[in-house]
Amino acid sequence: MSELDVGSRVELTVGPVAHGGHCVARHEGRVIFVRHALPDEVVIAEVTEGGEGSRFLRADAVQIIEASADRVAARCPVAGPGGCGGCDLQHVSLPAQRQWKATVIAEQLRRLAGIEREVIVEPLADDDGFTYRTRVDLAVDEEGVAGLRKHRSHDVLPVDGCPIAVPEISTEIARLTPKRHPDVGVISLAHTSTGETSVRERLRGWHTDGGGLLTEVVPTPNGQVRLTIAEDSFFQVHRDAPRAFVDAVLEAAQVRPGERVLDLYAGVGLFSVPLALAAGGDGQLVAVESDPAATGLLADNLADTPQAVALAGRVDDLFGVARPKPKGRRRGGGRGRTWVPARSPLMPPSADVVVLDPPRSGADRHVIGAVTALRPRRIVYVACDPAALGRDTGYLRDGGYEMGELRAFDAFPQTHHVECIATFERAAD
Ligand SMILES: C[S@@+](CC[C@H](N)C(=O)[O-])C[C@H]1O[C@@H](n2cnc3c(N)ncnc32)[C@H](O)[C@@H]1O
Repeated sequence: MSELDVGSRVELTVGPVAHGGHCVARHEGRVIFVRHALPDEVVIAEVTEGGEGSRFLRADAVQIIEASADRVAARCPVAGPGGCGGCDLQHVSLPAQRQWKATVIAEQLRRLAGIEREVIVEPLADDDGFTYRTRVDLAVDEEGVAGLRKHRSHDVLPVDGCPIAVPEISTEIARLTPKRHPDVGVISLAHTSTGETSVRERLRGWHTDGGGLLTEVVPTPNGQVRLTIAEDSFFQVHRDAPRAFVDAVLEAAQVRPGERVLDLYAGVGLFSVPLALAAGGDGQLVAVESDPAATGLLADNLADTPQAVALAGRVDDLFGVARPKPKGRRRGGGRGRTWVPARSPLMPPSADVVVLDPPRSGADRHVIGAVTALRPRRIVYVACDPAALGRDTGYLRDGGYEMGELRAFDAFPQTHHVECIATFERAAD
């Protein structure tokens, strides 16, 4: 058996797509995750990680011997083997990218939740899958060189623009990258729906104070929603995503006037404001967010909807469910590495509708248990990772909730990322 180490090259016939932006191939019984390839292609792949004894190897397709009909030329000079970690699917035609993501979602649901689903990935308004991104972080290296970060590396690739970014951000990239930026760790660029472009240099090792304030305006079925956000706040990155996701969440949630709604992992309130409007003056909206830079803005953005209350804190802490103990507090007090805070009296005992939009890691078993214990009529789960969605769908089923409609959106074209919005309803008691 030939040994494969980093730098070795091997001819492979590429197998199916897998979660994470690569395809699976096998060589002499070993699994190799190959980037920049397509199913059924024959490629020369260079090993980039792993070696003798590793469970699997990672590799990059550096030469294509037999190309798939779905292969296209990448538009960006730093997309491809050894290049930027952002666009891992620029070599794939846009319809095939959507099919790729649909396959991954269906596979994660099958594997992790035992659900068979045909998935369709819907486009957002971006024509050709380029010039859509309204947020870009430039990495800055020790020499002060700014650029895009190389895949699984600290190296920085200087670029004079980014084809997936809106033109206003590419203009800033072209202005910034020829200069040196000493002591800077990250330069965050944002372009808002109100036409503001912000450039924020974050110094190495400094904690964020949120940065300056920006305004986003989101068209919703109940009229425009105006949100104040901070430069460092989380905000959806595709220019059409705020509108499309609010529409989809409202349609999935079907909130009736007078109902109590929970919006968990609320950010600055993209969903909270329209959900509060749907619940009306006789209803109630409770929004939960932990990022200190976002919680004050969430409260400000909800100021015109007195039926809404913003709670600052972690969802798991406010529910009083177990989570890993914070570092530095692992000795004494409580059991082992688990931390179980007291449930906040501000968390309601029941809810009609729960919307949750957790970070990539998902919500986890304890949080899902606390959500199902509220016995909501509907749960709307907004997921940016199909694996976390699949895992949490399993916990929701354990709690008596079945997946109804599932929508998937191509909110990150040219990358393997995809957003899902799934509706869950209580199975008959
Ligand atoms: C994917 S974003 C969604 C934000 C919002 N729904 C939106 O679309 O703009 C996830 C949010 O959850 C927050 N978050 C992360 N972990 C949290 C936790 N344990 N408890 C509460 N919020 C959390 C993050 O700060 C972030 O604002």
